[in-house]
Amino acid sequence: MKRRLLITSGLPYANGPIHLGHMVEAVQTDVFARAMRMRGHEALYMCADDTHGTPIELRAHELGVRPEDLIAEAAASHKADFAGFGIDFANYYTTHSEENRELSNAFFSRMKAGGYIHERTVKQLYSEELERFLPDRFVKGTCPKCGATEQYGDVCESCKARYDAVDLVDARCVLDGNVPVVRESAHLFVSLSDFSEFLREYCLSESIGESIRGFVLSWIDEGLQDWNISRDKPYFGFEIPGYKDKYFYVWMDAPIGYMASTCDWCKRNGRTLESYWKDAGTEIWHFIGKDIIYFHCLFWPAMLKAAGYNLPHRIHTHGFLTVNGKKMSKSRGTFILAADYLKHLPADYLRFYIASKLSTGVEDIDLNIEDFYFKTRSGLIDNLANLHNRSFSFAESKLGGELGELGSEGGSRS
Ligand code: MSP
Ligand code: ZN
Repeated sequence: MKRRLLITSGLPYANGPIHLGHMVEAVQTDVFARAMRMRGHEALYMCADDTHGTPIELRAHELGVRPEDLIAEAAASHKADFAGFGIDFANYYTTHSEENRELSNAFFSRMKAGGYIHERTVKQLYSEELERFLPDRFVKGTCPKCGATEQYGDVCESCKARYDAVDLVDARCVLDGNVPVVRESAHLFVSLSDFSEFLREYCLSESIGESIRGFVLSWIDEGLQDWNISRDKPYFGFEIPGYKDKYFYVWMDAPIGYMASTCDWCKRNGRTLESYWKDAGTEIWHFIGKDIIYFHCLFWPAMLKAAGYNLPHRIHTHGFLTVNGKKMSKSRGTFILAADYLKHLPADYLRFYIASKLSTGVEDIDLNIEDFYFKTRSGLIDNLANLHNRSFSFAESKLGGELGELGSEGGSRS
């Protein structure tokens, strides 16, 4: 039976270049999509740049350019890097598109109509110097639980405690070192706990792989917190209809970007969004890294359910790329950009190496440079050379040393 698959990988942030960690995911997804097509199935690989949020807005502000110009540059370089690695997308779009704006508004209004959205005032850290609320990662201070210094505003790396940024002791803005003040602001929250039973059931289905099911169930068991989907201006994103100066949080419109990319492709190919995202005959496959499980296995299925779309058929999660057993690091020189790799070696060596390490688990995937060398030499080059060598000997002994086109039956000699 011919299957119809819509396949995605995590949308890379537009505020940085593509590195080999991104490539682990893209190659894995591409290998899967190609394998499905080779078996005669319809398999479309949809991706896009994830363009919204504070970092892009801040950088544009610093450089005195429009965020639109920054994301256009990123899109061109991301596309070139993926093309260099032979990643065969059906479409590589952007979350900053009209399709995505319309879809995001539609999700919001259905979630609101379903009674899942509540408005509430919260206290947040505000920089009077920069005239903006500071996201958790833009403040550092002393952990209120264990006293460790230099901790971010969301979680302590030392004792793993989670807290609100306003509870940090001696908080400072990481951008300019100034002391922020506490200010109130009204925000929109999704009551995720309304979906607990639905999510538990979904989690027990085949859609969530066994390697991560335990984590996701434990989050549900701990009780799901309301999710703040709004951000104050200045922000680069979509303004929320009916709420002046409030924007959708980047993680609200990012996964909808999978659909917007499909939508753009459909327009050019005479198809409809519904035939992929509403038709029960389509399997949605998401490939993601282990750092974004919460968003894909909890928020996203809840959003899809509330808005009346297909749920992901499968969320395939992989571990992180390490280099020589350690986290990629700029100072160790192991934070390898896709474009830099391509200056030195053929993409296929790394594609082969990554493919040789595919699994259904979430353990990290190590690029050990020595192992890479030997696997490429023996697993790829020796085997290929051996295949050629045997074929040549056969051509010599059985076919009189003549080479020619393969006929339509695949065997005739011309
Ligand atoms: N923009 C979000 C995803 C939104 S999806 C609706 C994001 N972007 S990212 O650029 O940080 O990462 C994109 C994908 O690459 C994610 O699935 C992430 O897990 C993966 N990887 C990023 N660094 C990685 C490694 N070092 N190793 C393997 N995959 C990694 O998250
Ligand atoms: Zn702590």
